Amino acid sequence: MQRQIAKQKAFLTMAFGGPNKYSGANMRKGHAHLIEKGLNDSHFNLVAGHLQATLEELNVKDELIYQVMDIAESTRNDVLNKF
Ligand code: HEM
Repeated sequence: MQRQIAKQKAFLTMAFGGPNKYSGANMRKGHAHLIEKGLNDSHFNLVAGHLQATLEELNVKDELIYQVMDIAESTRNDVLNKF
């Protein structure tokens, strides 16, 4: 989990327009072996839901939460290796 947290943080910092210190695999490559094990939209929806719930719990403004969720959503096809 420690490695995962560091990679997630670096990726999201880059995805949200911050400094790009991300050196992990791209989203397709990083999740390809999980697709073989059945990763699908239901799992993506749960992870995105946890992200939204966390931001709500931290009282982040709705307007900012919508922006974050749009960015997270923009990774869906790559994470799920679609299209
Ligand atoms: C917003 C959607 C997501 C983002 C931005 C994201 C981001 C990342 C990043 C940055 C990595 C590291 C890639 C690498 O260098 O190996 C990673 C790996 C991983 N992700 Fe995701 N992820 C997302 C969705 C999911 C979902 C829905 C699941 C499963 C429920 C998941 C499970 C994993 C696992 C288990 C790894 C580690 C794979 C390994 O250690 O080989 N991710 N993800």
